[in-house]
Amino acid sequence: MTLQSSDDETMTLEDPTGLDQHNSASLERAVARSRQVDADLAVNPGKYRVLTGDRPTGNLHIGHYFGSLANRVRAQNLGVSTMVLLADYQVITDRDSVGEIEQRVYSILADYLAAGVDPTRSTIFTHSAVPALNQLMLPFLSLVTDSELRRNPTVKAELEATDGRAMSGLMLTYPVHQAADILFCKANLVPVGKDQLPHLEQCRVIARRFDERFGRANPDQPVFPQAEPLLSEGAMILGTDGTKMSKSKGNVIELGMTADQTAKMIKKAVTDPERHITFDPVGRPEVANLLTLTGLCLDEDPVVIADRIGDGGAGALKKMLTEALNERFRAHRERRAELVADPGYLHQVLAQGNERANQIADVTLDEVRRAMRMVY
Ligand code: TRP
Repeated sequence: MTLQSSDDETMTLEDPTGLDQHNSASLERAVARSRQVDADLAVNPGKYRVLTGDRPTGNLHIGHYFGSLANRVRAQNLGVSTMVLLADYQVITDRDSVGEIEQRVYSILADYLAAGVDPTRSTIFTHSAVPALNQLMLPFLSLVTDSELRRNPTVKAELEATDGRAMSGLMLTYPVHQAADILFCKANLVPVGKDQLPHLEQCRVIARRFDERFGRANPDQPVFPQAEPLLSEGAMILGTDGTKMSKSKGNVIELGMTADQTAKMIKKAVTDPERHITFDPVGRPEVANLLTLTGLCLDEDPVVIADRIGDGGAGALKKMLTEALNERFRAHRERRAELVADPGYLHQVLAQGNERANQIADVTLDEVRRAMRMVY
């Protein structure tokens, strides 16, 4: 798509972003590029600003930990500037009420801190406290078309799932809001799963179009960077029944559970009748999932663990996993409990993060106003 300059307001609608072309070749390119960047992080941490976030719709679980939280802490500890968003406005994309939003925000915050996110080095903040971030939605919305948004795979899936019911305008435009999340702080690296790649492509398109359409505040550089994905490549962790983790299915081990609750969850985990333990993700997904988790906790290869258990069977595997999990998260849970008992401190951390995010957002919005010649 060529976006026309301001004397011709029409936008052509055919395949503007390549969002439809998420074929295996582009995925392979993204994976290769992401590996390069990952290696470069340790060498040039100062080149990157990372933004990540979670929707505060529930408590964090071990899938969040191994899938993303541990990596954020790793990036932070390498010296990468890291922004962590509690995406509270995103909660209302697909539900009618905010639920117990305050409790959820603080619960996730406690897990961030317990996992090692350091509020003096990383900025933890919420959407709703940063007006200038949200204001970016306005110019950004002018840079996308409704058909483009409807083609976004996540939006499209939601649209199909609504089954004739109305979809909210926020759901339709939430990829644009995510672009504002990323661009308000000029993040150039976004750790995501493969499903989020189209959103990032949309974000890059918005950054480019902003430059083409509105210009620059500073002649030698665009206002917004081209953000790249940092793909999480670890095996997807499933629930204790071997299916996708979901709180309503009761198959989730939350970070905040006690050792006893963890033991109970693993006791009822689904395995299979074959006594001899082998690591076979395709043929024996439930057993493989338990082995993967044990491997993550012990920092060992699941194949080696399977060999070690051998004829010990599912009972031995469960015992090993229970001990490994409870050992791995003992310090996290102790720290978490201390934090939850000190709401004043949590409040202070979030207030400081929000203040810092506002400073950053105000500077960016100022630059946007200058680029758009809206300084009066
Ligand atoms: N959509 C993400 C999730 O559900 C959370 C999120 C909000 C996010 N804004 C973001 C992730 C910007 C990356 C970049 O987990």
